[in-house]
Amino acid sequence: MNKQELIDDLAQRIVAMDVCPELRRHATQLVMGDGNLDADIVFIGEAPGKQEDIQGSPFVGASGKFLNEMLAAANMKREDIYITNIVKYRPPHNRDPLPEEKKAFWPYLLRQLEIISPKVIITLGRHSGAYFIPDLVISRDHGMLHEVICEGHKFLVIPLYHPAAALYNGSMRQVLIEDFISISGSIDTKK
Ligand code: URA
Repeated sequence: MNKQELIDDLAQRIVAMDVCPELRRHATQLVMGDGNLDADIVFIGEAPGKQEDIQGSPFVGASGKFLNEMLAAANMKREDIYITNIVKYRPPHNRDPLPEEKKAFWPYLLRQLEIISPKVIITLGRHSGAYFIPDLVISRDHGMLHEVICEGHKFLVIPLYHPAAALYNGSMRQVLIEDFISISGSIDTKK
């Protein structure tokens, strides 16, 4: 199977295993991920929002627009990267994903990363960041490369603020933009 078929198979498995049935019942669809399956960088957010739930792709709403702006500022394109979330159904009313929901999706995220096999993972926000870096202090650790081992897999992880948190906060917004630019300077993102 090629990478796309493996990802499709994984998505079917999530549905067949009825992962987070309560979330699934309220959601329009599973939002698996989007982008280049050969990417060197995978971005991982929290969970789909309203627009993502409707369109079936991650980061297509307001925070996605801001993410696109930052990618452009850092000279990266969405076609060069892959984006997904730790939780793959929209939580009702955009509430934070629950610990048990993140835990239920975690093995599927690990398998997704195994298939894509990126050089670097960039987490957006504390929900995905703290899963890779348990003692994460985002105000201290943002933008820094962490080498972590999760269940036998070695990952290079850069935690960043979540675009939705930074969108309306001037200083956090500036930090996030600067982190994006410095990351693109240190990682060759082009295929
Ligand atoms: N916020 C996220 O964390 N993920 C999305 O896909 C959209 C908004």
